[in-house]
Amino acid sequence: MKKEKIKVGILGFGVVGTGTFKILEKYSDMIRNQIGTDIIVDKVLVRDLTKGRAIHASEKLFTVNAEDILENPDIDIVVELMGGEEPAYSYISRALKNGKHVVTANKELLAKKGDALFEYAKDKNLFLGFEASVCGGIPIIKAIKESLSIDKITKITGIVNGTTNYILTKMSEENLGYDEALIEAQAKGFAEADPTADVEGFDAAYKIAILSNIAFRTNVDINNIKREGITGISEKDIKEVKSTNKIIKLIAKAEIVNGGLEAEVAPIVLPLEHPLASINGVNNGVLINSESVGELMFYGPGAGQMPTGNAVVSDIIDIAKQVAMTCAF
Ligand SMILES: NC(=O)c1ccc[n+]([C@@H]2O[C@H](COP(=O)([O-])OP(=O)(O)OC[C@H]3O[C@@H](n4cnc5c(N)ncnc54)[C@H](OP(=O)(O)O)[C@@H]3O)[C@@H](O)[C@H]2O)c1
Repeated sequence: MKKEKIKVGILGFGVVGTGTFKILEKYSDMIRNQIGTDIIVDKVLVRDLTKGRAIHASEKLFTVNAEDILENPDIDIVVELMGGEEPAYSYISRALKNGKHVVTANKELLAKKGDALFEYAKDKNLFLGFEASVCGGIPIIKAIKESLSIDKITKITGIVNGTTNYILTKMSEENLGYDEALIEAQAKGFAEADPTADVEGFDAAYKIAILSNIAFRTNVDINNIKREGITGISEKDIKEVKSTNKIIKLIAKAEIVNGGLEAEVAPIVLPLEHPLASINGVNNGVLINSESVGELMFYGPGAGQMPTGNAVVSDIIDIAKQVAMTCAF
């Protein structure tokens, strides 16, 4: 017999947590039709119960005690959307220990400590979904893991950080200086108050590490990725490059060279005809080269509440399909 309801606990209710909740609510009929079971958000972990939330829900939905989700035997899937290393790592480990499937969008955590979590999930025969951790709304993880699973990927080249791409686009199209473009990105919510992770290339390095791990079936040490951000790029650099019909983009690249993996994040000068040259603003674009398919290009929103929420929900649905079929009640 099929499980009647699949219960989800969400850890963190910011941009992506709210988007995930909204999508699960809005498309609940579609979900039921697809998997024959309801997916219910049972509990949401927040830090502040008095904070206004952009959804209509019972007060009982929210909790400040992680135990209400991690130790709750009714919850099948834990969705980690807090970000950062701790307590995210401990919470995910505990959820897996307690037999719960996990979905996360946490690229930093996966790039630094994903190997231990994936190993643990595998040992426990549980799913650890992470589609939302790279390129927000672009279904690139699934494409690599499923559609290209028997192709041999040789190179990944991408614009995987929307914040830096927005800043470089503004510098190039509107002749803004780096500081001016950064302030505009912050005012529009495209850059954090502390933009270090984005502008110094850390975020892009996390993402190319995750993509490399699945594409090349390896375990990249994040410290071995050469990394340069965009803070050293001046208006003069942008002008000079433009005068030669080229453009500067922050490129994350991973490639098999002489049998070994080389991965780096750096500002690269591209000719205007290059497929990634026209990826502007906060959008992301990724090129994948492989032996059988040749070259594939993925383009779309690399962040945002609904695109990233959709990626989280796609993992929840994949898990729910399995849970609904395998649980007998
Ligand atoms: N934003 C995007 O478009 C995007 C795209 C792809 C991936 N991601 C990833 O998705 C994750 C979430 O990002 P976000 O943009 O949604 O972040 P966010 O808006 O800052 O939301 C994080 C939420 O987690 C809560 N939180 C943090 N630490 C907590 C703790 N110890 N206990 C309980 N709640 C805690 C925060 O509570 P408070 O409200 O009290 O601060 C906040 O509601 C991150 O890993 C990020 O890298 C985000």
